[in-house]
Amino acid sequence: MNSLRSALIVLVAALAALPALYALEKQPASAYHARRVALAASLKGGVAVLFSAPEPLLDFMPYRQDSDFYYLTGWNEPGAALMIVGPSTNSDEKRSYQEILFLPTRNLRMENYTGAKMDAATPGVVQATGVNAVEPMAALPAELNKLVAADRKLALNLWTQPLSSQAKALVSFNAVTFGADSAPAAHDVTTLTMPLRQVKDAGEIELIGKASTASIAAQRAMMRDVKPGVTERAIAGEMTAVWLEQGCERPSYAPIVGTGVNSTTLHYSANSGTIADGDVVVVDAACEYSMYASDITRTVPANGHFTARQREIYNIVLGAQQAAIQAFVAGKSTIDDYYHKDPASLDTAAYNYINTHGKDLHGQPLGKYWLHGLGHMVGIDVHDPANYPAVLKPGMVFTIEPGVYIAEEKIGVRIECDFLVGPDGKLIDLDAALPHTAEEVEAAMRAK
Ligand code: GLY
Ligand code: MN
Repeated sequence: MNSLRSALIVLVAALAALPALYALEKQPASAYHARRVALAASLKGGVAVLFSAPEPLLDFMPYRQDSDFYYLTGWNEPGAALMIVGPSTNSDEKRSYQEILFLPTRNLRMENYTGAKMDAATPGVVQATGVNAVEPMAALPAELNKLVAADRKLALNLWTQPLSSQAKALVSFNAVTFGADSAPAAHDVTTLTMPLRQVKDAGEIELIGKASTASIAAQRAMMRDVKPGVTERAIAGEMTAVWLEQGCERPSYAPIVGTGVNSTTLHYSANSGTIADGDVVVVDAACEYSMYASDITRTVPANGHFTARQREIYNIVLGAQQAAIQAFVAGKSTIDDYYHKDPASLDTAAYNYINTHGKDLHGQPLGKYWLHGLGHMVGIDVHDPANYPAVLKPGMVFTIEPGVYIAEEKIGVRIECDFLVGPDGKLIDLDAALPHTAEEVEAAMRAK
């Protein structure tokens, strides 16, 4: 009996430790709970149901959780759903806050491939997931039916992810449980998670900091190893090795290593070229640490020395980044004003700098060679959701990434750093430890 009891204790402990096997650094359960409560407060008395990301289509792709689902739960498994019931906004109704995580029934045959999973019957599952209640997925339609049966108006106040086929099926099936053929479309829950996700808590900032540290290490390794004759792909591979060694799970986007004319293609990621003497190389490559992204670009000379023309363009791009930093005012400045028409946007400050410094080979200003917005929010997604142009406030993390791309001269230069707006409204460069100036880059390339 005693040995049975100790075996059970070992099993419970092992299962409770399961999420740790996935090696993601989690925040305390209270952080995810606070986000669910914040979402509930914006539901206007409605009900949100979010689903895990589906399994990847291609065999070589590892599983990545849906960003909103991860933000709200820290749960990194497919096949789950989260229901959040918002407290009633109307005093005649008595609904209070409720949260339930639904887990699929275990498939013991599949677990030969995937390893052990938890379901709602697993001892310790509530503690392991940190959600108030855990139920089998089969109970989800019944729970929804119960809520809507008690208050029919709720059928018009359901919030789901717009692209989720499971959510569409659930909303349709909920109508079926009431004998109806079709249901009104649910509201888009991502419009409610977006503003919550924009302002990072201290734990998120720490995780982004770790992604940044690993990305800086990889960029430094790149600066040591770029030279004529090395392939773009070898550089991407070397950076990937550094990210993985530092505990990151993957790149936060397809690494871009573009040499020569490839440096002028914004999202060049074929990485099939070979670095040639006299080229500049744009290296826009960074990683994800425990689901949080970094996004860094540096531009380096293939042979360790910028030509006078390359240095001139480099300094203009760096000057544009500095102009944006100097123009920054928390709560007022905006980012990603694509047409740089808004005087309050950092894009306008950067564009004005580029357009008034230097000329192309035809004597024309350089503004037309900047081809993209100045930056974007960074978080669980490298391009975290926002309505752009977005006003920048304390707790937000975003990139400032001006560039000039002159294909005719085979010169593309982009410099990209991640910035946090501190509690005092001051900008903090999360990538301050990486070379910024042309001379710092050249020195890092000499440091073999
Ligand atoms: N670093 C890639 C991008 O921001 O589009
Ligand atoms: Mn970027």
